Amino acid sequence: MEGMADVFRIIDRFTITGRGSVYTLKDAWGDNFHVGEMFYDLHGHRFCVKGIEMASRPLTGLRLEDLPLGIIMELIDGIDAEGNFLVRNPDALSFIFCSHPLYPDRVDDDYKSEYQAAGLKHPCALFSYENMEQGRLSLCGEAISGLAIYRGWMMKPELYRSFYRKLTEKGIILINTPEEYEKYHLLPGWYDDFKDCTPSSVWEDKGTLDSALELTKELEGSCIVKDYVKSRKHEWYEACFIRDISDRKSAAKVIETFIRRQGSDLVGGIVLRKFENLRTAGFHEVSGMPLSEEYRVFVFAGRVLIMDNYWRSSPNVYISEDEMKWIDSIARQIKGCFVTIDLARREDGTLIIMEIGDGQVSGLQQIAPEDFYRAFENAK
Ligand SMILES: Nc1ncnc2c1ncn2[C@@H]1O[C@H](COP(=O)(O)OP(=O)(O)O)[C@@H](O)[C@H]1O
Ligand SMILES: [Mg+2]
Repeated sequence: MEGMADVFRIIDRFTITGRGSVYTLKDAWGDNFHVGEMFYDLHGHRFCVKGIEMASRPLTGLRLEDLPLGIIMELIDGIDAEGNFLVRNPDALSFIFCSHPLYPDRVDDDYKSEYQAAGLKHPCALFSYENMEQGRLSLCGEAISGLAIYRGWMMKPELYRSFYRKLTEKGIILINTPEEYEKYHLLPGWYDDFKDCTPSSVWEDKGTLDSALELTKELEGSCIVKDYVKSRKHEWYEACFIRDISDRKSAAKVIETFIRRQGSDLVGGIVLRKFENLRTAGFHEVSGMPLSEEYRVFVFAGRVLIMDNYWRSSPNVYISEDEMKWIDSIARQIKGCFVTIDLARREDGTLIIMEIGDGQVSGLQQIAPEDFYRAFENAK
């Protein structure tokens, strides 16, 4: 990329004894880093340029501009960067929403209140999801550049990848790389990192009944079925909950119904998860799905940005200080910069991770849009 960029992705970081902290930055070659210049992480911590470090070993087969460029930084606030970015302007954060399918200069109806709340403090662009599915990026609304967060419908990983690339060409850097999106959008991507605190799960990658039935051999008791991304929780007894996995006939019926109804929306393959008894707060009137004590946590650059449920003082809902510390430690282990963690409370009282998702395509649940977008200001 030519000229001065305002946003740099941190590829690597290390300490050289006696010299300071070195941050290896993506696409930093050709930019001008001035000694004494200030950079910021996404929480507003300051980093002052002390010098530039080139790869000292000759790396064969690399072009000069591909050599890793390390910037030696003084940690003005005494801590390492949280999250994966160093930016020149800590206040610049844009949002990009889906436009209305018929009116390219209007936001999609379902995101109207978010778009309005975001627009109070942040530049907001629109794009046509439908055109993007055809491989075309059509932008509308305000012209944005630099760091941006997408708020809209889920994308299959291939679509996100092309969306990300097309935006990058225009100097718009989405908060999560295609690799990070895929990791947290798909259960097999994040499962191993958190398998000690999430329902035990197995999966296959064909999305067929036969292949899913192979998985059932290793399982016992109650299970739920979903694909790598979504369940059909609103069709709880027909297409989600399997009372006894060893009852092959009933299990096959639920899995078959799930596969058929997902149709072409099925992402990845079939996942079977051990059913955990959750603390229930009632049952859904229509579907019969148990309504349990669950929380959605938005994580921004390694820290809790805002939580659903917890911030509203409901008498049924209580998270202890120790639990909050545990949630903070989970947030620090997240490698993408904008991710959701859904928590549930088991009947025995312990919190577990129900699922993880990319924050850009996760709904706000009960969080008021104004509170959500204000939280980005408070994050600094
Ligand atoms: N293993 C499980 N044990 C108990 N309840 C579950 C389990 N998996 C899912 N559920 C219930 O079903 C809901 C939907 O499951 P989830 O994995 O979050 O899929 P979705 O992506 O469709 O939201 C959860 O919020 C929870 O209430
Ligand atoms: Mg869910």
